[in-house]
Amino acid sequence: MNTFSRHRRLRSNPQIRRMIRENHVHTSDLIYPIFIVEGENIKHEIPSMPGVFHFSLDQLKNELNEIVELGLPSVIVFGVPSTKDSCGSEAYHEHGIVQKAIRFIKQEAPELYVIADTCLCQYTDHGHCGPVEDGEILNDEALELLVQTAVSQAEAGADMIAPSNMMDGFVAAIRQGLDETGFPHIPILSYAVKYASSFYGPFRDAAHSTPSFGDRRTYQMDPANAREAMREATSDVMEGADLLMVKPGLAYLDVIYQVKENFDLPVVAYNVSGEYSMIKAASQNDWIDEQKVVMEMLVGFKRAGAEMILTYHAKDVARWIKEGS
Ligand code: PBG
Ligand code: ZN
Repeated sequence: MNTFSRHRRLRSNPQIRRMIRENHVHTSDLIYPIFIVEGENIKHEIPSMPGVFHFSLDQLKNELNEIVELGLPSVIVFGVPSTKDSCGSEAYHEHGIVQKAIRFIKQEAPELYVIADTCLCQYTDHGHCGPVEDGEILNDEALELLVQTAVSQAEAGADMIAPSNMMDGFVAAIRQGLDETGFPHIPILSYAVKYASSFYGPFRDAAHSTPSFGDRRTYQMDPANAREAMREATSDVMEGADLLMVKPGLAYLDVIYQVKENFDLPVVAYNVSGEYSMIKAASQNDWIDEQKVVMEMLVGFKRAGAEMILTYHAKDVARWIKEGS
């Protein structure tokens, strides 16, 4: 009888290691975020996110070609408007920055699957994800504006709507809004489980969406809670979500795992800006091996249960996979 197990038999060379590998990162799993600004001739690197840029539409063509050539299937579009007001009206303007960007992408790169982030915080002068009254973020008033935003994005040609604003009932409201306006076929990727996280810092630099007062803890979730995440996901599933997002990713792998175990919907991990910037900073200092660390992190999302990964590393990863390195 064996007295101990020889696990190393299946680790003895690259062939057998590859054959028994349980999880893989494919280029087709990845969603690449892009930031679009008003104006012309703009391709500015975001200081806190090396390798990620603000693009004006006239500079976007090369970027789209590159994304397509790398075999990336999908982008998520974030608009950075030049004017803001109290109810975020640029978010749902027919010719708002994100609507123009979606039209442009569908025209120039029709094979790219375009996901629209649906929120108001980049567009409101106070930086919150809904209208504000006496310091309170109004839920049901936000829903109306969100529905208008989602419908205007679908009209512009978005393939999928991804509401990120954490108001109660947003999936039901947007589903109904899309159904009534001729878009019953457009799926909703709900940011179902979104924590009030400090890992969003660099994104807020990029999207100019830092709240001017307070924080988002009255609508985004407390990082200490996992059971509550199941309640959030349950309501979004009942309201008609087609896919579920967990955000951020790295510090929340247990939540990804539980969402996968408990719900029979595709799960997306959002590998957020702060997670990206930490790796960039450390690798620029030669403290870590960027490629190895990124691949280890992404396979961790797959192992936890995510089918898809929304990540600023997507272009680099697609390149590494293509080059077989
Ligand atoms: C907007 C939104 C945020 C992110 C995506 N959509 C910021 C926030 O909630 O403050 C963060 C993404 C990232 O950090 O990469 N609601
Ligand atoms: Zn928001």
